[in-house]
Amino acid sequence: MPGVRMDGRMVAGLVAEGVKAEVAGMRARGIAPCLATVLVGDDPASAAYVRGKHGACAGAGIESRDHRLGAGATQGELEGLVRGLNADASVHGILVQLPLPGGLDAFAAVSAIRPDKDVDGLTPASAGLLAAGRAPLAPCTPSGVMALLDHYKVGLRGAEAVVVNRSGLVGRPLHHMLLQRDATVTVCHSRTADVAAHCRRADVVVTAVGDRSRFVLTPGMVKEGAAVVDVAISRRGGRLAGDADYEGIIRKAAYATPVPGGVGPMTVAMLLRNTARAAGAAGG
Ligand code: GUN
Repeated sequence: MPGVRMDGRMVAGLVAEGVKAEVAGMRARGIAPCLATVLVGDDPASAAYVRGKHGACAGAGIESRDHRLGAGATQGELEGLVRGLNADASVHGILVQLPLPGGLDAFAAVSAIRPDKDVDGLTPASAGLLAAGRAPLAPCTPSGVMALLDHYKVGLRGAEAVVVNRSGLVGRPLHHMLLQRDATVTVCHSRTADVAAHCRRADVVVTAVGDRSRFVLTPGMVKEGAAVVDVAISRRGGRLAGDADYEGIIRKAAYATPVPGGVGPMTVAMLLRNTARAAGAAGG
């Protein structure tokens, strides 16, 4: 029997409905939650992601502001813009879209965001709180992975979880979130000796490499009855693809996410949730 397709679009819709109701309540109390995004340069993929975030905000009743800087913007201009948004009481959440054009320091730019407006959960303060198991605002993609696993009631306590990614956006925060839920977590990366061996013994595999010339998660690398979450997104013959061979894996795994329609919509839903939370915390 094939496994269950974890439907990120459907679950994200449920989350967004909940946020919309919460936002309506805030608006009735005179708080208008507002997200400000900062996009530097003209990368079409980043522009499309930012457009998607604004569209989702509109759908949930969250206001949004779209700040743009040219590819030649300086670090000072970028951080100056962030500081202005920090000081603007009508803005509750700030997101600097990554990656930034070459020459700009993403860590410094993100670090300039006030932690209580850090709806991306990427500032050092947020990362530290997450490591301590006390993050009010956690990064959106890992939060989306956790929400999806929870929706489908994938057991995490005592489970072997393998994350194939060690970035600050995905692998590192996810490591802490899974650990917080009592999973035994292994983080694989480009220097891991035998990624396949780790994946094969995992009850939960989360993969986020995004380059099929370097890594493909095949059915032979997945344990019978495992849950497989594919965060990656890349183009393959003009179509979107993740790291995993979904059609093969769903015949062996208990749960798997498709690409597209898996984690992507969940990331946006978690951004809405974080923005509503930040507004709620600011507005009392
Ligand atoms: N680029 C890809 N994913 C993300 C994300 O979750 N946040 C930001 N700021 N940039 C991204």
